Amino acid sequence: MDTGTAYGLRLGQPLNELAQVGPGTPYGEVLRRYWHPVAKVEDATTRPISLRVLGEELVLFRTRKGKAGLLHPRCIHRGASLFYGGVEEEGIRCCYHGWVFDTEGHCLEQPCEPELGLHRDRVRQPWYPVEEQYGLIWAYLGPPEKKPVLPRYDTLEELADDEQLIVNDQGVGGGGPAELDFNWLQHWENVMDPFHVPILHARFSGNQFTPEMALIPEVSYEYTPLGVRSIQMRELGDGRQLRRVTEVIFPNLRVVASPKLSSGQTNMIGWVVPMDDTNFRIFTVARDADPDFLAKLRSTHEGKPWKELTDLEHQRLPGDYEAQKSQGAISLHSEDHLTTTDQGIAMIRRMMAKQHRAVAAGGDPVGVSFDEAERLVRIEGGNYFEGAADAPLLADAVDD
Ligand code: FES
Ligand SMILES: [Fe+2]
Repeated sequence: MDTGTAYGLRLGQPLNELAQVGPGTPYGEVLRRYWHPVAKVEDATTRPISLRVLGEELVLFRTRKGKAGLLHPRCIHRGASLFYGGVEEEGIRCCYHGWVFDTEGHCLEQPCEPELGLHRDRVRQPWYPVEEQYGLIWAYLGPPEKKPVLPRYDTLEELADDEQLIVNDQGVGGGGPAELDFNWLQHWENVMDPFHVPILHARFSGNQFTPEMALIPEVSYEYTPLGVRSIQMRELGDGRQLRRVTEVIFPNLRVVASPKLSSGQTNMIGWVVPMDDTNFRIFTVARDADPDFLAKLRSTHEGKPWKELTDLEHQRLPGDYEAQKSQGAISLHSEDHLTTTDQGIAMIRRMMAKQHRAVAAGGDPVGVSFDEAERLVRIEGGNYFEGAADAPLLADAVDD
């Protein structure tokens, strides 16, 4: 008799308590305890734009005085969207009956009411606090009494004379479109999956990065005070070792040094920001002399950019996007078979579960700080070459 057939297959369940991001969901409440990048600073203008962040619809604009505002779109008067509002000196005017709200939702004017609204101070348009840093607009969508300080990151702090900060919201590291259309956790936990690199990105799809990355590494993992780290050792065969360190920092930061192997501490980090349960964006900030550094990082498939691949080429040369999207809109995690090389995945999931239990119990998740003096986050991730220093990189032989 045949065994193991698909007949009666149990479809299984996602780990919803980790994957879901909406208000009131376990990890959604963890995410809401941190600041998130939601747009580039230049996206906040006097023309309002719609944003979806953690399952919430929002409107972003910049007053004529220059202050960025992030408001719930449904006007508290009778519900017209502020997406159609007109931006003024101090706030945004609803198109329907002209109520004006400032960036903190105070109602400044109700033009059809006596004296522009005798009771206008009794209503408030729901809003969120925003800050601007590293060329990004950051928003805090959590409980006001728990608002932490906005972190800074050491690798983005000290720029050499020829360097600048480069900001990218086009899905660097995602291997697909700018807005990725599957659950964010599939992408984030992939950061702790170093074994997919020599398989997916080398053996399967040709060398998408460098010859060093095609070697199967010896990997160790460790918890850090802020997340999980993997240390990947590769013997390069010329007396040198490559020690590549990759990190996840809670709740959604990816610390992945260039797979094209620039040496030393990584010069870029990226935030995996869920729009909702099945869509996310990646905001990346890098420090480099070349303004196109991030755009050039995108892997090519036999020389072709992802956007230009035919259906057959997507199938023949799959990358991160094909692998992770095909896990499902939200992966059915209960059906996974984790093995020794999935230790990093198991560690992330365990640490995530610990955070949502801590938050549900009234505590704080890892890494949030309420002290201005403790804003600086140290980044360890990078590519560290050890051993004979003068040996040329294998990558020198590669035509990029
Ligand atoms: S619905 Fe916005 S002012 Fe009336
Ligand atoms: Fe990858």
